[in-house]
Amino acid sequence: MTVLLVTGASSGIGAAIARLAARQRFDLVITARRIERLESICGECEPFGVQVLPIQADLAVGEQVRDVAQRALEHFGKIDILINNAGFGRINWLEALDSEEEIAAQIQVNLIAAIQLTRYLLPSMIERKQGYIINIASIASLIATPTYSVYAASKFGLHGFTEALRREIAIYGIHVSGVYPGGVETEFGEKAGIKRKTRIKTPDWMRLTADRVAQETLQLIRRPRRQVILPSYLSLVVWLNRFSPALVDWMLQRWFVARERAGN
Ligand SMILES: NC(=O)c1ccc[n+]([C@@H]2O[C@H](COP(=O)([O-])OP(=O)(O)OC[C@H]3O[C@@H](n4cnc5c(N)ncnc54)[C@H](OP(=O)(O)O)[C@@H]3O)[C@@H](O)[C@H]2O)c1
Repeated sequence: MTVLLVTGASSGIGAAIARLAARQRFDLVITARRIERLESICGECEPFGVQVLPIQADLAVGEQVRDVAQRALEHFGKIDILINNAGFGRINWLEALDSEEEIAAQIQVNLIAAIQLTRYLLPSMIERKQGYIINIASIASLIATPTYSVYAASKFGLHGFTEALRREIAIYGIHVSGVYPGGVETEFGEKAGIKRKTRIKTPDWMRLTADRVAQETLQLIRRPRRQVILPSYLSLVVWLNRFSPALVDWMLQRWFVARERAGN
């Protein structure tokens, strides 16, 4: 059986990946801090005849990241597919963010934990000359917007890691891909602490479901690609940002920053 490890599987995109992967008959390692949620996902997955190992871990803590890799390898002997999905955003002006909880932890969970977990599992993939590493990044990996400075730093980092690693290990037959979603309907928004004077937010019609992101992510296993931008038309915005950054700077200053900062 193919074994898939997904981090951040207690809600949102990670939970949707776990459910869909079980239907596709992958054995699973699922990890997050909320163990009761993981156990409930196990209960949904096991009827498909797959083995599911839940591991409670706080990925902001380095030793717990190592523990996830060790326990997963001890239990299954291998991980075929690693999906680095766990992450969170605290969306605010840089000067308003708390240094430990909102800056250090965001970089640790979104970026360093993904790098470390990959590093712990990579030797066994190289040895077997097969494997797939998929990083759930964000459109914020490709376009940095005001109030997303630390989140963007973590996700730009994850994008750079994804690109370099793909070029490092393709020679062993190991695939590496990045998934770059725009707004997705999950718990992410509630936890992000977004406060807006303007009512600017991702319009409902543009928001993706976690199931759609899970489908596009697992499709990579059948048809590997370097990156998936979701929805695909956001590629145009990425293109505009790359080729006309001054215009994007001007638009964001005028329509967002000037109005949000007014009176401060
Ligand atoms: N929603 C969006 O609009 C959007 C857009 C682009 C990219 N993304 C990315 O998609 C990924 C999944 O987010 P989501 O939208 O599905 O949000 P979500 O529903 O809040 O899920 C986040 C997951 O990450 C886990 N997590 C957070 N901090 C953790 C920690 N310290 N240790 C271990 N696990 C931790 C959470 O589990 P516990 O709380 O149980 O630990 C949860 O399972 C994130 O990397 C996010 O940046 C989201």
